[in-house]
Amino acid sequence: MKLLVQDISRAKKAPLLVVFALEGKAPQTPDGLELPASFTKGFDGKARSTRETFTEDKAWPHVLMVGLGDGDKLDSEGLRRAAAVAIRAAKAKSVSGVGYYVAPEVAELAGGEEATGRDLAEGAYLGVHAFAGVRKDNKAPALKQLTLWASGAAFKRGATKGKLLADACNFTRNLQDASGNNMRPRDLAAQAKKLATRSQQVRCRVFDEKAMQAFGMGLFLSVSQGSEEPAKLIHLTYKPKKKAKGVITFVGKGLTFDAGGVSIKPSGKMEEMRYDMSGGAAVVGLFHALGDMDVPYEVHGIVGASENTINGKATKPGDVHVGMNGTSVEIQNTDAEGRLVLADCLTYAQKKTKPDTLFDLATLTGAVIVALGHELSGIYPSNDDLRDKLLEAGERTGEYCWPLPLMDVHKEAMKGGQIADLKNIGPGSLGAGSTQGAAFLSYFIDEGQEWCHLDIAGTAWNAGPRDWSGGALGPGVGTRLLIEYLERR
Ligand code: BES
Ligand code: MN
Ligand code: ZN
Repeated sequence: MKLLVQDISRAKKAPLLVVFALEGKAPQTPDGLELPASFTKGFDGKARSTRETFTEDKAWPHVLMVGLGDGDKLDSEGLRRAAAVAIRAAKAKSVSGVGYYVAPEVAELAGGEEATGRDLAEGAYLGVHAFAGVRKDNKAPALKQLTLWASGAAFKRGATKGKLLADACNFTRNLQDASGNNMRPRDLAAQAKKLATRSQQVRCRVFDEKAMQAFGMGLFLSVSQGSEEPAKLIHLTYKPKKKAKGVITFVGKGLTFDAGGVSIKPSGKMEEMRYDMSGGAAVVGLFHALGDMDVPYEVHGIVGASENTINGKATKPGDVHVGMNGTSVEIQNTDAEGRLVLADCLTYAQKKTKPDTLFDLATLTGAVIVALGHELSGIYPSNDDLRDKLLEAGERTGEYCWPLPLMDVHKEAMKGGQIADLKNIGPGSLGAGSTQGAAFLSYFIDEGQEWCHLDIAGTAWNAGPRDWSGGALGPGVGTRLLIEYLERR
């Protein structure tokens, strides 16, 4: 679907015209178009409500009204949702093109021209996305063109940005949604490599198990040794054109399938564990956006891609392995594998990229779903400034975050018994399962390193409906959030 942004005075025609109505007000329309009173009468403009009509007007034969709700409460997620409602309706009606008419009053209430352009385009492109899957009945969508009619250069800038962000997020979603046999560690690595060819400023290296052995990544390899599929360490780099203002590194958990290993998971819903690479997908997706932007930082993306399955060589509960930073771990539960993969990726990230700020994104624990549900990611920022920036970025993108505690008592609980420095699980009696995961990771973070762990196990799939997303498929969480963070920095 192509994007065209035009000045409001040039609004001439479209197979389907979308007009937005604020609660209690009739929608504004392009010059020369009178909507019949019978059409607008009684339409309350409540958020996400719609009404359509066919007219005798050659330029505007088909009109869809979409409610925005109370103008004073209109936020960016509300706009994204309205745009998504409209685009899904257009898609369902199989029209070839759709035009949104955005009255200046709407743009003003919605946070200005730039923000409105961004949110509408973002919502439309997120909303039009559909995962293709592997199906016989796939056909090319009829909808080829989206036109946004509004005023001002700022609107156009915003709309271009919104499309860029949605494209990156949709890229992440496609990685997430692919089945485990179609998105093996090697496939994720291939996608990252291919992505790097889109931009001169993005580069990608992929390390195999032999290289990982040489790095001393015994914890990571303890996970992949139980699988026939070789693990991959993916390292993406973005370099700005000018001298970088600093280095920011993102690490992602890329478990392309997590069966639990010898501590095997129950079979109910085990198929959902193809989503256990969602942190890695979000990190790769970041570089989709970075390639099209002008971010002044050097950015690294490091993804530990592996399966956690089971064979005769698989790690057994009680086995001890040593990580790249020399720390030994007794693996008491092979299903707490993400933290082992991340431990070595975090060590690698600090040694090789020397970041000013370090992030990791992981579908790490079921416990974070108990704590925060599916609408908020749990975050563990090492300082208040980082926390505030992430909370703001979450509000702006609708990828909401909430800080969770990490105390000395939790760190103590991860110390090993008689046979190793650490254990990979803490005592059940301590509770706070998500915090225990973060506490384990903290042993692989250098003193003074600015760091934030994001537990996205709840938000990576199964979230509530938001018109452009929701349900079993992935919303691409993390990519838009962290681009927003980079821009706020
Ligand atoms: N990938 C899972 C976490 C998960 C569970 C994500 C459910 C999404 C939905 C992770 O590897 C895992 O198995 N964690 C264990 C940790 C436990 C053994 C300490 C968990 O959460 O049960
Ligand atoms: Mn697991
Ligand atoms: Zn896992």
